[in-house]
Amino acid sequence: MRTFLFIMAIVMACCSSMGESKAASADEAGKVLVVYYSYTGNSRQIVQSLTDQIDADVMEIEPAEKGLQYEANNYALGMQLLNAINATPDAPDSYPAIDPVSITDLSGYDNIIIVTPLWWSQMAAIMQTYLFNYGPQMAGKHVGLIVSSHSSDIPQVVLDAKRLVPDAVWMGDALWIKASNHANRAALISNWIASLDFAQGQSSMDDKLYITIDGVTQSATLVDNAATRELMTRLRVAPITVTLNSSGGFEIWGALGFALPTSNEQVDAQPGDIALYNGSNICLFYGSNSWSYTRLGHIDDLNTSELRTFLKAGESNIGVTLSLAPGSPVKPGDVNGDGEVNISDVTALIDLLLSGETGTEMADVNNDGEVNISDVTSIIDMLLGGDV
Ligand SMILES: Cc1cc2nc3c(=O)[nH]c(=O)nc-3n(C[C@H](O)[C@H](O)[C@H](O)COP(=O)(O)O)c2cc1C
Repeated sequence: MRTFLFIMAIVMACCSSMGESKAASADEAGKVLVVYYSYTGNSRQIVQSLTDQIDADVMEIEPAEKGLQYEANNYALGMQLLNAINATPDAPDSYPAIDPVSITDLSGYDNIIIVTPLWWSQMAAIMQTYLFNYGPQMAGKHVGLIVSSHSSDIPQVVLDAKRLVPDAVWMGDALWIKASNHANRAALISNWIASLDFAQGQSSMDDKLYITIDGVTQSATLVDNAATRELMTRLRVAPITVTLNSSGGFEIWGALGFALPTSNEQVDAQPGDIALYNGSNICLFYGSNSWSYTRLGHIDDLNTSELRTFLKAGESNIGVTLSLAPGSPVKPGDVNGDGEVNISDVTALIDLLLSGETGTEMADVNNDGEVNISDVTSIIDMLLGGDV
């Protein structure tokens, strides 16, 4: 009875929190890029404080023309550059040239934070050039904005950002750090981060998959496509164990137990390649084959003979576990595959049951061949009994 009440309390807590659509925190966020421009160093210091608090790649934008003094003659050059932009904002020539950027493909980033100075109450012209060129690539991404000014308020900078990145999903209100608050920036940034709606990893896959066969684990590098993104989403919930069989003298393959999005093409599969066949079967190659597959990735660093041994070439009923963490992932009760059995596994198991996704070995806690409510009871008994 005690166990039943405990389960019901957890199920209710789980269901009510699902209705609230909680924003992802920085800790759970997908890959973050911080892009900044800084003329006198304040924005650079802001970026330093920001990246002390979140994991992010950082890219600095620099003007092509060096040594210019934007502040000379009562900030005249800054004004002149902005006037040119404002006269014809749709013309590329209106924007001051910038150096080539180090990251030209933003597809791997889910979240982008722009850090810019304010000039004449507008976004600094140099940052406007970058966003004019790359803002379209930020469509659909979660984008945040931090503005550094001496004292002027930032509504026009926010409008500039919205003009230049029209299809962003704004992560929250822009953060304004004026000179009198600059020393307090770490605390301001910390509060701001807590308020943001970060996107969780979608396009920014961790891109490593771990394959465990008979206690031996090998890493693999995934390609980025809709199939691997969905696979990673499933693996974030729990590792997946499948039973594969040798076939054709070149692969072990078998059903995943669910379908992934396909992007089939004629593939010359090579030893080590991992592919999706017919939408719901995984193939691990120790030889070559040309067929219509969706590419998933490639097993790292094994030669053909090592691959044959690892994949048990020629054998049948090979238990293969896919996970996001190296090492043996199989620990009954460790439903979320984080290496521990604790209350978070109860929640993970309930999420699995509610989603109807039940094909994982770790979730079959009582080892009766099925994943159902009795496994929730078993985990709770394990936790209450300290048997973890
Ligand atoms: C051309 C130019 C125009 C500026 N216009 C303003 C302004 O209108 N209002 C304001 O409060 N600060 C203004 N500033 C000051 C900067 O916004 C402020 O010093 C900011 O912190 C600079 O960031 P940075 O050190 O990263 O370049 C201006 C600075 C420059 C260079």
